[in-house]
Amino acid sequence: MEKKNIEEELEYIKKVNQIMQAKGKKYHILTMGCQLNENDSEKICGMAEEMGYTKTENINEADLVILNTCCVRENAEDRLFGKLGEIKKLKEEKGTIVAIGGCMMQEKHIVEKLHKSYPFTDIIFGTHTLHKFPSDIYQTLVKKSKIEDVLDIDGEIIEGLPIIRDDKYKASVTIMNGCNNFCSYCIVPYVRGRERSRDPKDILDEIKALAKEGYKEVTLLGQNVNSYKGNGNLGIDRFSDLLRAVNQIEGIERIRFISPHPKDFTDDVIEAIRDCKKICKIIHLPLQSGSSNVLKAMNRKYTKEQYMELIEKMKKQIPGVVFSTDIIVGFPGETEQDFEDTLDVVSKVQFEQVFMFIYSRRVGTPGDKMENQIPEEIKHKRFERLKQLADSQVQKNNEKYIGTIQKVLVEGKSKNNSQMLTGRIDTNKVVIFQGKDEMIGKIINLKIVSEHMWYLKGEI
Ligand code: SAH
Ligand code: SF4
Ligand code: F3S
Repeated sequence: MEKKNIEEELEYIKKVNQIMQAKGKKYHILTMGCQLNENDSEKICGMAEEMGYTKTENINEADLVILNTCCVRENAEDRLFGKLGEIKKLKEEKGTIVAIGGCMMQEKHIVEKLHKSYPFTDIIFGTHTLHKFPSDIYQTLVKKSKIEDVLDIDGEIIEGLPIIRDDKYKASVTIMNGCNNFCSYCIVPYVRGRERSRDPKDILDEIKALAKEGYKEVTLLGQNVNSYKGNGNLGIDRFSDLLRAVNQIEGIERIRFISPHPKDFTDDVIEAIRDCKKICKIIHLPLQSGSSNVLKAMNRKYTKEQYMELIEKMKKQIPGVVFSTDIIVGFPGETEQDFEDTLDVVSKVQFEQVFMFIYSRRVGTPGDKMENQIPEEIKHKRFERLKQLADSQVQKNNEKYIGTIQKVLVEGKSKNNSQMLTGRIDTNKVVIFQGKDEMIGKIINLKIVSEHMWYLKGEI
């Protein structure tokens, strides 16, 4: 994969900085999507701040409003249009610059709708042109022109963008962009392009720099991380090689990754998880459906049996491993029996966490053209049934922690109670406890004393 030289973009950062000097302009950003989208927002913040903007949580005092959109489900899209109604007033009152980026901007029908119904939008940028944000801002400030900067082709790999991270002790690192799988319900391959893996050296350098800054935990991000393909640099070709290399980095104490695809979960990846002490022994393994028929229609390329075999194999080889998952209910053609197969897998695996979604038709995907769509009412009923089962398991799983000693990365003061500290255990559950401020940013041992569905309580 060719890397792009971004010197030109960095020049635009300087240019904007010069014309903005000492003007105290503020920006507000709203991130609407997944962790990849969040990681993109961290880069947008990096660029905005180098241009001279400072961040504000209050949209009303912003001179620049940035919306980083998601289109994976309908409700994500609705959020944008709701927000734009509100922003229209701001634009009229104080001429706020409105920039909209992210996955949704890669959809032609959405961009058309913006032109028609929200013509006050100043900048539209896509997933492949994120790095051009500074030049987009420059054109808007200087030429006062409307910018549409969306590319249909797969973007290059961009290295060296400034970044302002949301957290101080845990960080996300994108290892690959795009997806080649075309699951029949999913819009992501159309808006993120084909798989492009970063150079292993760039990834490791980024993580080493994070460790130096005091970061303790990294999450490796990609739409399909276990199909990562290194270029052989530093001897790294496969995802498992990358995991082993990250495990060697001094200072990093915890490694997570999302999302792997069950079809690419090869033995070398399982062995790397088993061998590497720092890899958290909770694996997010998206199931989507427990029915082999539905999985086939979804183009997932595994059966219920293969999924269960993979879980069993991992349980055997990786002591203490647990799982979380994603499930879609109401995919076209899903029968009562199919849905019960999903419930069956959920009750057998005992997931630590289940992310549940009601199937949402996405324009341009094969699923949208299928004739046997499930009525909304049935979808919602099934969702409720799945939720009940999953919630009861979460509670059961939580009880298992009571009385155990857990390693906790202390993240800071609890938002709801400033007397308490908050952190996460290996399996990513939140723990609240009474402790001293100097524990923040460290990994400490806590005894779990009670469970409260969404969090555990601990004692030193
Ligand atoms: N690449 C990742 C994540 C994709 S998006 C993966 O394959 O696991 C995150 C989740 O959103 C998916 O796992 C899926 O459960 C859900 N999702 C994607 N498209 C959807 C749709 N059209 N309707 C409902 N849920 C969807
Ligand atoms: Fe979407 Fe499937 Fe790719 Fe995940 S693997 S991003 S669900 S197409
Ligand atoms: Fe993520 Fe949504 Fe795009 S889930 S990849 S921001 S469509």
